Amino acid sequence: MMTLPKKITIIEVGPRDGLQNEKQFVPTEIKKQFIQELRNAGIMEMELTSFVSPKWVPQMGDAAEIVLDCLDDQTRNIVLAPNRKGIDRIYSTSCKAVAVFVGVSDSFNKKNINKSTSESMAELKPIIQELKEKGYFVRACISTAFYCPYEGKINENDTIQLCRNFVETGVDELSVADTIGMAAPNEAYSLFVKLKEAFPKTLLTAHFHDTRKLGLANIFACLQAGIDRFDTSAGGLGGCPFAPGASGNTATEDVVYMLERMGIVTGIDLSKLLVAIELVRPYVSRKIESSYYRLHAQNN
Ligand code: HMG
Ligand code: MG
Repeated sequence: MMTLPKKITIIEVGPRDGLQNEKQFVPTEIKKQFIQELRNAGIMEMELTSFVSPKWVPQMGDAAEIVLDCLDDQTRNIVLAPNRKGIDRIYSTSCKAVAVFVGVSDSFNKKNINKSTSESMAELKPIIQELKEKGYFVRACISTAFYCPYEGKINENDTIQLCRNFVETGVDELSVADTIGMAAPNEAYSLFVKLKEAFPKTLLTAHFHDTRKLGLANIFACLQAGIDRFDTSAGGLGGCPFAPGASGNTATEDVVYMLERMGIVTGIDLSKLLVAIELVRPYVSRKIESSYYRLHAQNN
């Protein structure tokens, strides 16, 4: 008999990962409404935006405005930052949960953040310690944890070692990502079993991009490894501008549908989730291709 979690947490990354790759600027007002509709659907943890260089990622140029209007006390509102400048911008807001991000692969990290992995780590270490002293919730997003678009297969031990560096620095959560959607379920299972054993006190979250439609299978593998936190994106939007081949995240609605059918509680209302997707759909170039949307959306 399989032992699976009875309840899982979805960390909705649609407003950040979902939109960052869209070339056409999504109006700030629409982003705010999207965030609100996602909350109405029952999302309790969400990446709202990222404080990155607007020259590198123009879509996230309205981060301060988003945060100004979208924080609430009931849910965890996460914002991303890659460097000191991003953290200082966050300090001038009321946001209390920060995600930093680093790739296991040097080549990817250079394309994404213009630094080697160890240079990023050296910059982030004192920042994380400072955030913890100030009482922030800190999440570390580990990119290219399985495969890199430039270097190919990543050694599992390198991923575990980078995670260890973050845990020793004091992060609350590791979000471990298959950036280009290449991991197979046996690889997902193997890594997450080891991470769970190595870091029993750290929140462990899996972040799958669905390039090869293996997201659900990988999530099912992770459930069997005891993982109960998943980053997903409403409508399956998403992708990293600096990772060729990174298509959307696994769609929140397909994950919720699968889990609820398995009797696992998600706390998310699928019909309200469709309202959030319909709201943002006219503003994105990507076609919504999730199975749940295809079968249930009125305007499809
Ligand atoms: P750089 O060009 O090396 O930075 O970029 P710099 O320090 O030389 O600064 C250049 C300019 O950017 C300066 O402005 C800085 O002030 C400004 P100028 O003097 O030219 O006017 N700047 C900033 N402005 C606003 N906010 C900041 C900031 N930092 C510098 N934080 C940098 C380095 C890190 C800034 C750049 O590479 C960058 O912004 N990268 C972010 C890339 C990104 O957002 N990627 C997507 C998110 S990660 C992801 O999607 C993966 C994930 O989903 C997990 C997975 O799936 O793998 C999390
Ligand atoms: Mg991602």
